[in-house]
Amino acid sequence: MGHPVAHSWSPFIHGMFAKQTDQNISYGRLDVDPEEFSQAVDLFFTDGGKGLNITIPHKQAACLVARYRTPRAEIAGAVNTLALLDDGILGDNTDGAGLVTDLTRNLGFTLTNARILLLGAGGAARGVLGPLLATAPESILIANRGVERAGALAKEFGMLGSVHACGFGDIDVGTPFDLVLNATSASLQDTVPPIPAAIVGAAALAYDMAYGKGDTAFTRWAKMAGVGRAETGWGMLVEQAAESFTLWRGIKPDTKPVLDAVKSR
Ligand code: ATR
Repeated sequence: MGHPVAHSWSPFIHGMFAKQTDQNISYGRLDVDPEEFSQAVDLFFTDGGKGLNITIPHKQAACLVARYRTPRAEIAGAVNTLALLDDGILGDNTDGAGLVTDLTRNLGFTLTNARILLLGAGGAARGVLGPLLATAPESILIANRGVERAGALAKEFGMLGSVHACGFGDIDVGTPFDLVLNATSASLQDTVPPIPAAIVGAAALAYDMAYGKGDTAFTRWAKMAGVGRAETGWGMLVEQAAESFTLWRGIKPDTKPVLDAVKSR
């Protein structure tokens, strides 16, 4: 359920998971206006639906329709997965776990003790901060166009680890980051946040939570700036889907063939 939702790869991904694990599911797209969101969720479940993925712009509203929330959804203040339990709807957020699994398992990146630069302070950044901090990185610096928004997020998550905030122009270029994560929506506008090229060193991983055919504006920029490695968010997309599928069906799909399939399309 989203608005818009026509572009979503989730039906393809869950279709592959279902085939692979021999699960009899039907998964489609529902385009729902924000004003009709809670009624649409009620209708979906009273009509016999068992689980929903929630995407932009409904992730915060989805928190409110859930009777129960997992701790990671509570911390994120956003829900991307709803599951029907015996006595109500459970809200979960699998985005951050999806990112962490892609970084650590698929890409072999060590988050523990890493110095992380997180670009953006909107919903996408908020959704991944808790799971990232749970891996015990050395520090996370949140850089955003609107500095106050970054500061508020750093303050909120500061109790979970070392989190600081600044504007794009104030990033300390003398500091090598191990990971530069793009959680802004700039790639969707085919632009890159105004960050100095010096922050992406030859040893760094640049990761764009956005994805598209080939490089995004951010991974293209990072490669030109001389980054060691640049990745788009296909792995995060498939891994967050796998977490949702496991919650609904109690069976863990193999993400590797699905990731290969979406990347090659
Ligand atoms: P999402 O749920 O995708 O995070 P959002 O909550 O609207 O969406 O947040 C969008 C993020 O991308 C914000 O950090 C935004 O910066 P501001 O908070 O300063 O608005 C950032 N963003 C959007 N377009 C951008 C651009 N062209 N350059 C840099 N940052 C951009």
